[in-house]
Amino acid sequence: MGSPRLNGNTVELLKPFIEELKANSVQVVYITLADKHISSCHSCYTCQNITGEYGCPQNDDMQDIVFQIVQSDCFVLATPIYTWYCPPEMKAMLDRFYGMNKFYGSGKGSLWEGKKCAIIATHGYDVQYAAEPFETGIKHLCEHSNLNYIGMYSVRDKYNKASFQTEEAINGAKKFARMLLVK
Ligand SMILES: Cc1cc2nc3c(=O)[nH]c(=O)nc-3n(C[C@H](O)[C@H](O)[C@H](O)COP(=O)(O)O)c2cc1C
Repeated sequence: MGSPRLNGNTVELLKPFIEELKANSVQVVYITLADKHISSCHSCYTCQNITGEYGCPQNDDMQDIVFQIVQSDCFVLATPIYTWYCPPEMKAMLDRFYGMNKFYGSGKGSLWEGKKCAIIATHGYDVQYAAEPFETGIKHLCEHSNLNYIGMYSVRDKYNKASFQTEEAINGAKKFARMLLVK
């Protein structure tokens, strides 16, 4: 969850989504980025010369996030749209995924290929204008990394939190959760 607001709109939309996953016996690990320390990628390329491990020499909270993703079948990027993309904590995480693929050095293989990836987003503008750049970026990341991109569920922030408490928003989040289980 990439919002700096730990009780904001994105979290509101996540509540029925996570509830539905748990009702279907899915083990959910919920990670907030705003209370973590994730440095930006230093572009040292150390990770690219190490096989079978993440290989990033920076010892921060990214190590645990990678561990959790490696253990998982699916990871969901839940984020508000900030300036047509995501807040900086999530962007730092996306950049630090570099070591999940070994494309640019002597390292071989992947730590995450075949996993499912999905997006849950909230935004002020209409979905196409607001969220297309972020979704396009994540689609390309998935293609490039051999991840199984499932899709995006997003709701527009029209009336602050109330926008995410409507029957439509809640049922949509639950439906998206069930779709993750079958895709
Ligand atoms: C710094 C900042 C940048 C934003 N940029 C966009 C944007 O580019 N497009 C958009 O549709 N909404 C934008 N918004 C609105 C948020 O995406 C929206 O209010 C979202 O629901 C906030 O979710 P949160 O409460 O989980 O942080 C921005 C909000 C902030 C604070």
